[in-house]
Amino acid sequence: MAGGADPEWLARVEAVVGTAHLETAVGWLTYTIDTELLMREIDEAVGRISGLVGAAKQYSQLDRAPYQVVDVHELLDATLVMVKAKVPGGVRVVKEYDRSLPPIAAYAAELKQVWTNLIDNALSAMGGTGTLAIRTGRDGNQVTVAISDTGPGIPAEVRPRIFEPFFTTKPVGEGTGLGLDISYRIVVNKHHGDIRVDSRPGATTFRVLLPVAPEGVRPGS
Ligand SMILES: Nc1ncnc2c1ncn2[C@@H]1O[C@H](COP(=O)(O)OP(=O)(O)OP(=O)(O)O)[C@@H](O)[C@H]1O
Ligand SMILES: [Mg+2]
Repeated sequence: MAGGADPEWLARVEAVVGTAHLETAVGWLTYTIDTELLMREIDEAVGRISGLVGAAKQYSQLDRAPYQVVDVHELLDATLVMVKAKVPGGVRVVKEYDRSLPPIAAYAAELKQVWTNLIDNALSAMGGTGTLAIRTGRDGNQVTVAISDTGPGIPAEVRPRIFEPFFTTKPVGEGTGLGLDISYRIVVNKHHGDIRVDSRPGATTFRVLLPVAPEGVRPGS
């Protein structure tokens, strides 16, 4: 039986119900325990499936969002409005925006998904207390968006695998391991940008680099 019954357990059951009823009792207990285990498996499976459905929705959005010239801060603020409810009281949110940045040409909805995924990871790494910092800046022909947290950091043995699809260190039902895979596809494949990670205990930063829009192109065009 899957529940971990052993001779000692059988003896205990026998002591309670008597030898005559042992078989019936064991039959019933087996049924109950198996049902219980099954329910737990179902529960886990449901958690896993709903995570996958969420991720599938993100993948399916990939080709729909329109390409437009936008101010990166608009996308960041729109995302912050969406995630605000998820930010625990013990987490301080710091914004340092370089308002002189030029616009970028982007799939806006997809980039918002990237910020959501990175902020989500930062928040879950901090688990309730810390500082989430969002900084923007310029690096040559690229706009940079850095999302930092004060969580425990990414262990060296985990670091090479974080962008792999389905790689997660989170318990079943909490993570599907697709957040960074999706983000990488959006930034690197679709926007010809880059994502870099710098992590040590207390300071993890994901830096997204995006090409600035061609000269003379204005937001909204
Ligand atoms: N800011 C961070 N601090 C520490 N570890 C991180 C951070 N961001 C990502 N990781 C590690 O990278 C793994 C993969 O991240 P990814 O976003 O792809 O998946 P996930 O968060 O586990 O699940 P999902 O995003 O699909 O819900 C995480 O499970 C975690 O171990
Ligand atoms: Mg994630």
